[in-house]
Amino acid sequence: TGGVVTLDPGYKNTGACESAITFLDGEKGVLRYRGYAIEELAEKAHFLEVCYLLIFGELPTEVQLNKFHEDIKAQSHVDEDVKRILDGFPKAAHPMGVLSSLTSALVAFNPSSVNVDSEEDMYKAIVKILGKFPVLTAWTYRKRMGLPLDYGGDTLGYVDNFLKMMFKKPSGDYTTNEIVLKALDKLLILHADHEQNCSTSTVRIVGSSHAGLFVSISAGIAALWGPLHGGANQAVIEMLEEIKADGGDTKKFMAKAKDKNDPFRLMGFGHRVYKNFDPRAKIIKKAADDVLENLGIQDDILDIAKALEKEALEDPYFVERKLYPNVDFYSGIIYRALGIPVEMFTPMFALGRLPGWIAQWREMRLNKEPIGRPRQIYIGEKLREFKTVEKR
Ligand code: SDX
Repeated sequence: TGGVVTLDPGYKNTGACESAITFLDGEKGVLRYRGYAIEELAEKAHFLEVCYLLIFGELPTEVQLNKFHEDIKAQSHVDEDVKRILDGFPKAAHPMGVLSSLTSALVAFNPSSVNVDSEEDMYKAIVKILGKFPVLTAWTYRKRMGLPLDYGGDTLGYVDNFLKMMFKKPSGDYTTNEIVLKALDKLLILHADHEQNCSTSTVRIVGSSHAGLFVSISAGIAALWGPLHGGANQAVIEMLEEIKADGGDTKKFMAKAKDKNDPFRLMGFGHRVYKNFDPRAKIIKKAADDVLENLGIQDDILDIAKALEKEALEDPYFVERKLYPNVDFYSGIIYRALGIPVEMFTPMFALGRLPGWIAQWREMRLNKEPIGRPRQIYIGEKLREFKTVEKR
């Protein structure tokens, strides 16, 4: 319309929507889902409860939670032909690429979930993706490990069922480890939503064209894969391993992180919104100590992580840029302790963020948000005439 355009690369100062789902205060390090403090939810809630809370806005009654779980379990199977698509990937394919592809492929096997407009049809698509995504995640891991692809157990809880699909022995034996289950449940809650982050904004903008829920989630998985976003949890462990292999000299790596000519960044540090401690990082750091102690694991990269954090919190470069540990800095240490390989760390972030993506997509559709279509400041060539190739 020729109106005034305000340039805002990375949308650092742009509010893309009104939302009632998650509240962040970056200065105070506050995070709330539907008004509930993350510290309370991480301590007292279960992941499936938090999924319901984020998507529908209220903590479920027991009857509502049981029905939600039953509806999800009824959709927790994946067409056997999807295994053929999975077979087509090389074993070494990164699980995030596989998962983004398989999530899109789900549309082919669930055509009714493509264009949903009514709340009822949205609910059907929502319980389908909540039921099938854990299966796809577990199968992607099992395929990499050369293990049989199968299901968990109908009597298990949502997270326990996922753990069984991931870790049950080829014989089918599986025993719930309460420490592992509690730790993963807490981690998934802490990752469940985070207002208009990169991957959630991706889900909203893809969904704003009325593309279906599954492909919107697939796009979110792709965005989350980036090392500046969810991919950071894998990059943190790789960085800590590199520091350990290099002799554990954290000062050398701090200098690299501050050197403008060195592309090295302290992965797991910094945040667009939090200019104080990421409240999730505080909870995860404590959980890492607890889980390693309860499982009797000594992991010296935790010691390196703590040394790095201590240095960064005292370093003027980091202090003046308000760079603190974020959600990705300690989470990988817990995933490792739970027996989850580093390539599966970002898929675990996706599993946690799934309800947040769903809630934000649903809110966007129910609010009848317009299709996302930003403008630009054009800095290219002025009008010029075509020249035939002889004259170029
Ligand atoms: C997540 O948005 C969300 O909510 C995301 C998330 C969620 O739940 O969805 O919280 C999950 O993605 C957490 C972030 C995970 N990423 C990383 O840990 C990667 C390392 N961090 C950075 O790349 C960076 O801090 C970002 C991407 C997180 C934030 O980038 P910004 O807001 O665009 O900030 P910036 O890159 O402009 O940095 C500001 C300054 C720069 O220095 P100057 O140019 O001002 O001199 O801080 C420096 C940067 O060089 N800086 C870092 C740094 N992060 C920023 N220097 C060294 N190491 C770092 N990690």
